[in-house]
Amino acid sequence: MPAESITITDNRTGDSFEIPIVNGGVASDQWRKALPDVMFHDPGFMATSACESAVTFLDGDAGILRYRGYPIEQLAEKSTYLEVAYLLLHGDLPTPEQYAGWVTDITYHTFIHENVRKRFLEGFHYDAHPMGMLVSAVAALSTFYSDAKDIHDPASRDKQIVRLIAKMPTLAAAAHRFSVGMPFVYPDNSLEFAANFLSMMWKVAEPRFAANPALAHALDVLFILHADHEQNCSTTAMRTVGSAHADPYSATAAAAAALYGPRHGGANEAVIRMLTEIGSLDNVSAFIESVKSGKGSRLQGFGHRVYKSYDPRARIIKQVADEVFEVTGRNPLLDIALKLEEAALSDDYFISRRLYPNVDFYSGLIYQAMGFPVEMFPVLFAIPRTAGWLSHWAELLEDDAKIARPRQLYVGAAERDYVPISDR
Ligand code: ACO
Repeated sequence: MPAESITITDNRTGDSFEIPIVNGGVASDQWRKALPDVMFHDPGFMATSACESAVTFLDGDAGILRYRGYPIEQLAEKSTYLEVAYLLLHGDLPTPEQYAGWVTDITYHTFIHENVRKRFLEGFHYDAHPMGMLVSAVAALSTFYSDAKDIHDPASRDKQIVRLIAKMPTLAAAAHRFSVGMPFVYPDNSLEFAANFLSMMWKVAEPRFAANPALAHALDVLFILHADHEQNCSTTAMRTVGSAHADPYSATAAAAAALYGPRHGGANEAVIRMLTEIGSLDNVSAFIESVKSGKGSRLQGFGHRVYKSYDPRARIIKQVADEVFEVTGRNPLLDIALKLEEAALSDDYFISRRLYPNVDFYSGLIYQAMGFPVEMFPVLFAIPRTAGWLSHWAELLEDDAKIARPRQLYVGAAERDYVPISDR
């Protein structure tokens, strides 16, 4: 008998089955062989592992997050977003030569085809949400790079990965400039990744935009914190669409669409709207009561499917907030956020449900202090998460993963005969 296994007894027949536990999981094919008529019913994948992955380790009870084994705290302190993107994709930190080559590759792929901007992005309605524009523009890129369909060619895969990571900030900034009626700013390839993005966002008439180094660094740290988070909703979308062997632009667009939802990447936008609505410290208690009654909205930026003690990214982000506010001045909503956090963390409703601030509770306050409109928040999330999505996409293809195709428990009508419309 294997040391690690479970035994299941089917009480209908009295038959027992032993299934080995491998890497903390029991394989469904063994279950299916033993009990072909019994499904696992797991809406929302609460206890279902859909893949083996070597990208990111997450222990929600202990509040641990590691990319390829490296603690998020060390990466946030010592690395850069582009180095982290390399790490996620390649599995190891780059040598100096590899890093220089990688940065050069990304830097020289930042430009987008003129038709994407002129004909495609400028065709949107004047008040289009920049995240909607980004999702569509990423999908549209698949029509510009027909070689992207060669998903089984590693060289082609690498090329699309570089293109996607490099072009996301350009598309993101272009979407913003269009939505505020400002002319498009071309990438300045003499700048580093985050500083280049800030230049494309904010440059007006000056010959060269010099981002405040503290703000460029803070944004780079935020990019590191958001680069991957194992099998979250958008990564699952990426893997699901990728498993059908769609090209990476289409799969990334699907992932970005998932990220657009307020339960996922839209949460920091929801936090700012919530704090603005609360408006004053005096209204915090009443707001907490309305959350607890279930009649009001949820406490945005609180709670996480996996983290049940604290979100390690939220801790790091609080430090980043201090650095940013030193440059920009304190965000007036910060005091409301601090009071909300304090009230929630001492309230039995939140304690008993193990609800803590997640990464989005403070990220919106930082973005807002840096001058980003709330509509850009999910876009700012999508830029770095592209590295994580693509790491999972590449891993899934290397593993020759099966097409994602869950089963269901049918609870609809039994067979019945069609009734002609005149008889209904
Ligand atoms: N405010 C108030 N109550 C909450 C909250 C919240 N933010 N989150 C969960 N709860 C309560 C639920 O009402 C439920 O209570 P009940 O047992 O009395 O019915 C209990 O806690 C469990 O909640 P679920 O919805 O089952 O937890 P789940 O793991 O499915 O949801 C989620 C996780 C979606 C993140 C949820 O906590 C939430 O909606 N949070 C607010 C939105 C948010 O901040 N999203 C960002 C997530 S991080 C990210 O994507 C980067």
